[in-house]
Amino acid sequence: MSLKNNIDLKRLPRHIAIIMDGNGRWAEEKGENRLFGHLHGVESVRSIVEGCAELGIEYLTLYAFSTENWDRPAYEVTGLMELLVTTIRNEVPTLNKNNIKLHVIGDMKMLPESARRALNEALSETSANTGLNLVMALSYSSRWELLNAVKHIAEDVKAGLLPSEEITQDTIQKYLSTSGFPDPELMIRTSGEYRISNFLLYQLAYAELYFTNTRWPDFRKDNLYEAIIDFQNRERRFGKTGKQVSDTLKT
Ligand code: IPE
Ligand code: IPE
Ligand code: MG
Repeated sequence: MSLKNNIDLKRLPRHIAIIMDGNGRWAEEKGENRLFGHLHGVESVRSIVEGCAELGIEYLTLYAFSTENWDRPAYEVTGLMELLVTTIRNEVPTLNKNNIKLHVIGDMKMLPESARRALNEALSETSANTGLNLVMALSYSSRWELLNAVKHIAEDVKAGLLPSEEITQDTIQKYLSTSGFPDPELMIRTSGEYRISNFLLYQLAYAELYFTNTRWPDFRKDNLYEAIIDFQNRERRFGKTGKQVSDTLKT
């Protein structure tokens, strides 16, 4: 029986977030340069996006490039940006065929003009789709996002648009770049690193974290199914006791 059949389709996470890590090491282990790993990582993106769409997942957020990644060697940054532009251009027809709507979170101002143009085209060409929401985190970091949110909140308070006593947790959510998206319920990180690396710090407050040693270019649908099955076997308590949770499930 395939792993997919073990997934309870009625208890899927609405939102899965993935830190796609390990491209560089995957390539270096094969005696290749790091860009070779990023190129192969695109195959995994295709497979996982398709896997999520087939299952009926509503949101998939992929951490593709962090604010801190700008500090990598120039050849790697340039190679990644070129890969981004060609991949986005090539994938738009598939996104449309599968009814997938693209979103981008991150500091778009930092991206080269060619990447911004390709992304803006892809955003508008997929904007009417109603299936999976694919959120690409590009030039993204959570501290950048929180800083932006705080600045905007302060500006709106100063302009009299937002009374400070009315600021709630919902207000904060609205000022984040993930405004309107549900919080991720499952966060996957590949390649054996046990950290968050400045990803969705606010939104992951109650996410289930899943770490695997598999390098991103080797991550395929079965690996995704394993993570979802693991998620479905956990008890999410949100601060309550196990008994309270099981009593609610019975009612
Ligand atoms: C993830 O793989 C992709 C990006 C950060 C762009 P890495 O490039 O971080 O690969 P490792 O972690 O060095 O193996
Ligand atoms: C996190 O991976 C960012 C992305 C996957 C895009 P990194 O490889 O940059 O993270 P660290 O440096 O190991 O924490
Ligand atoms: Mg890494």
